[in-house]
Amino acid sequence: MHWKIKASLQKILHFTKIGDQLNHIPATLKKDYHKNVCLYQFYECIRKFEASKIQLETDTKKAALEIGTGYSLIAPVVLYLLGFDTIVTVDISKDVSIKTFQKQIIHLNDATLLQTVSEKGRFTVLEIKEKLQQIQSFQTLEKLYKFCNIIYIPKYTLSDIENTCNSFDYICSQVVFEHISPAFLKQLFIKMKTWLTKDGCAIHTINFIDHFANPGFFQDKNISEFNFLKYSDNTWDFWAGNAIAYTNRLSYLYYLELCEANKLQVIDFIGENYRIHNPLPTTEIHPDVLKKYKQLSNVEDVCKFQRGTLIFKK
Ligand SMILES: C[S@@+](CC[C@H](N)C(=O)[O-])C[C@H]1O[C@@H](n2cnc3c(N)ncnc32)[C@H](O)[C@@H]1O
Repeated sequence: MHWKIKASLQKILHFTKIGDQLNHIPATLKKDYHKNVCLYQFYECIRKFEASKIQLETDTKKAALEIGTGYSLIAPVVLYLLGFDTIVTVDISKDVSIKTFQKQIIHLNDATLLQTVSEKGRFTVLEIKEKLQQIQSFQTLEKLYKFCNIIYIPKYTLSDIENTCNSFDYICSQVVFEHISPAFLKQLFIKMKTWLTKDGCAIHTINFIDHFANPGFFQDKNISEFNFLKYSDNTWDFWAGNAIAYTNRLSYLYYLELCEANKLQVIDFIGENYRIHNPLPTTEIHPDVLKKYKQLSNVEDVCKFQRGTLIFKK
């Protein structure tokens, strides 16, 4: 389906109060949706935690910040089961529910998954099993938050985070930064520099592709996954400048520049191409896209990776 059809529908939906939820419904109708979400969130959470090389075995209390909770609370709960003492999770919207959580958490009850958590974290398998049993019994989110010491801040501001906790050993996000404007990203990177503890680590997985090329009923199979880089800021803003569709069209290079500007030490950037790679010819990339970078020695680099994980320290 042509991407402009999905873009037009999202434009209409975003005028309604529940536009984001309506936009999310088609994904939830897929078979095994909750199981798949649970396993995806679990493995991505563990993958990032491992890559950060954070140690939880010490006696000192450790705090984690997740930016962009989304619809699932599996990641903050896995951080709790790994052994973080406080988990702050924030989003610009409020999309979690106990019903969804209950449908997802049951899929964590698996010997291999619990063994993995135990090997990477602070608790024995028996301790994790007991904690999970308790977690599964909760009928309200408030009870879950209290037990796991999760602080969920929907519709947050940066001051909300700071008023809750201003020192984090671990800051993570999963496919969220591409939805954040360059102006807010700049503020966020300044804050992350101040929030990270001396040995703390930030790890962010970012998707760099045009979301209208994402699989699903509305996928446009005829476009490059970097199609959105063809358009001026004004044209792109017309089609996708709303809260449902917004992506910032920034490549990994922009995030490396943000680290440099804030004197953050880049530990690694793991770039990935997880589907057939169709980079745009450089002549098709709009100058508005290129002018966002301070330095760009190779224009083709903006199409180099479809996804990546950025790891940095203070
Ligand atoms: C693709 S979803 C990913 C959610 C979740 N991390 C996951 O893996 O399912 C992107 C999320 O980023 C959130 N988001 C957008 N802008 C944000 C911002 N400035 N700060 C935090 N979250 C934001 C959206 O509301 C949405 O929940």
